Amino acid sequence: MNQQEIQTLRTLMEYEASRSAPPKGFPELPDIPAGRYTDPRFFELEKEHIWRKSWLFAAHIDEIPQPGCWRLWENAGQPVIIVHANDGRVNAFYNTCSHRGAPIVTEQSGQRSRLVCKYHGWTYSHSGDLLAVRDPEDFVNLDKSCRGLTPVRCERFGNLIFVNFDANADSLMQWLGPVADEWEEFQFGNCRLAARHIWDLNCNWKIAMEANAEVYHVRSIHPRTVAPILDDRRNVNTLYPQGHGRMVAPRPQTAEDPGDLLTQRSPWVEMETVGEIARTCTQSYGIFPNWVSPLSQWTIPPLLFWPNGINKCRLETWTLAPDWGDGIKPDLWTQNDGEALSPVLLEDTEFGEWIQKSVESYGFKGVPLSYQEARIYHWNQFADKMIGAENIPEGLAVEQVIGNDWMYPNDPRVALAKA
Ligand code: FES
Ligand SMILES: [Fe+2]
Repeated sequence: MNQQEIQTLRTLMEYEASRSAPPKGFPELPDIPAGRYTDPRFFELEKEHIWRKSWLFAAHIDEIPQPGCWRLWENAGQPVIIVHANDGRVNAFYNTCSHRGAPIVTEQSGQRSRLVCKYHGWTYSHSGDLLAVRDPEDFVNLDKSCRGLTPVRCERFGNLIFVNFDANADSLMQWLGPVADEWEEFQFGNCRLAARHIWDLNCNWKIAMEANAEVYHVRSIHPRTVAPILDDRRNVNTLYPQGHGRMVAPRPQTAEDPGDLLTQRSPWVEMETVGEIARTCTQSYGIFPNWVSPLSQWTIPPLLFWPNGINKCRLETWTLAPDWGDGIKPDLWTQNDGEALSPVLLEDTEFGEWIQKSVESYGFKGVPLSYQEARIYHWNQFADKMIGAENIPEGLAVEQVIGNDWMYPNDPRVALAKA
């Protein structure tokens, strides 16, 4: 982030603290329909259009460090095998043999020079080519060149591996857009996998994720953990194309040094390249559809939210960090290496099950969102763009009210702040 951008953010923080109403011209946000959390038709639309067409964070290169290493990945409901090929590339395929659909692998991870089907032994390369078939003379006109494993799009951002089930999707870099540039200072190509854990939650995946998409809840939910280090009145939200968003909030001005949540966990290795904003503020990115990650000089710690049915979900907590050598391995999100969620995440998840009961009740009609919660509305707008308005049953769509004029790089608040 350059000096100009830092200055603009600082100006916007003061603007946010001083305003007595939402910025002039910011649209009134219509209620989010209740059925988006409970209607099986909407859940199916999410499957078909969001999970099938978005770039999804699936693995870290440390999980498949050598050629021949693979891991099974089923978080998005599809059986996928991610393979580190001999040529150094990372490839993904459906874990589905081209013969009769048996799995190529049934363990979570492993290493093999060839991928061999468990059922009748068809053998594939790391690039998915069908190399050998047992008793080939008994097949009539079997063209091996058309019977390879079915590929899944797979691209890397540094050491992070993303997949996309849409063969025609834009590249991952296009998907990330301006965020990719902003992330350069965090050295995604150097980060190692420090921790990865899975937590089952009893609520719709969006209920869990939205708890991490606004700071409006901080004073109620986190009075002793987050509130002392985050000035929610000075929070600046930025809306990016593709439904992505960012929050940046400085430390409270009045507080004596309250002891930072993160610094208390030192000594973690620092990334020298990380700039002033990430060092002095709480900064967090939401990447459509299911990634939320605060970024600092110590860690890249994405939270991923995966549906597990309409009223259940999985929270995946990751911590990526610069090589810690013999030092302490960072894990931002859990206590005792995955024994329990961290205090902050226990707070963030405590109402999920209660909210699920509410949204399923006759009493729940919809969600009115404030300007502070605009990132949630922005996410929903983009979700509908992916689904296609014509595919959404009556009463379940959100209106497209936040125009491009409020989306990065446009920001009418800059002029309002100077006025
Ligand atoms: S199903 Fe794989 S070889 Fe038959
Ligand atoms: Fe929170």
